[in-house]
Amino acid sequence: MHHFYTKNAYLCNMKTVLTVGVFDLLHLGHVELFRKARALGDRLVVAVQDGDWVAKYKPGARTVGSTEERAYMVKAIKYVDDIVIYRDVETIVDEVDFDIFAAGPDQRHAGFRKVFDWCRDHDKQVVILPRTEGISTTELKEHIKQL
Ligand code: CTP
Repeated sequence: MHHFYTKNAYLCNMKTVLTVGVFDLLHLGHVELFRKARALGDRLVVAVQDGDWVAKYKPGARTVGSTEERAYMVKAIKYVDDIVIYRDVETIVDEVDFDIFAAGPDQRHAGFRKVFDWCRDHDKQVVILPRTEGISTTELKEHIKQL
């Protein structure tokens, strides 16, 4: 019984933070995002986008890491309590129990705008976290090409 109560986020009034992304070629900017997102609450859930769905939002994009590899890397970061795989951001918010949605300033396509409205209607907080300057998966790929 004790176990049940301490593990139950709702009964313990724990705040769960949700953040989403592709997280290919995991880098400092991603880990910094996890650190900042985790600090907003008590528990961080990271939704990692299914590779088959990445191209829908990043035209022409192909990930280096498979969905499973990217999820495995994200889960290994100490700030991350749990991971889920998602296809569309607007559906994952309905499937994960969370209190705070942490987004990057680059996450603003129509799906995210729907999510921000959904959060407002469902009493969830939205926090836009600043990006870490000077690093991204795209820049890393360019850098590697030039080596
Ligand atoms: N992010 C960040 N700082 C960076 C890069 C990414 O805070 N330097 C955050 C984004 O704001 C987003 C999350 O990490 O909330 C996932 O971003 P993702 O698109 O997977 O990483 P990028 O490196 O931006 O990838 P790409 O270059 O392909 O856009």
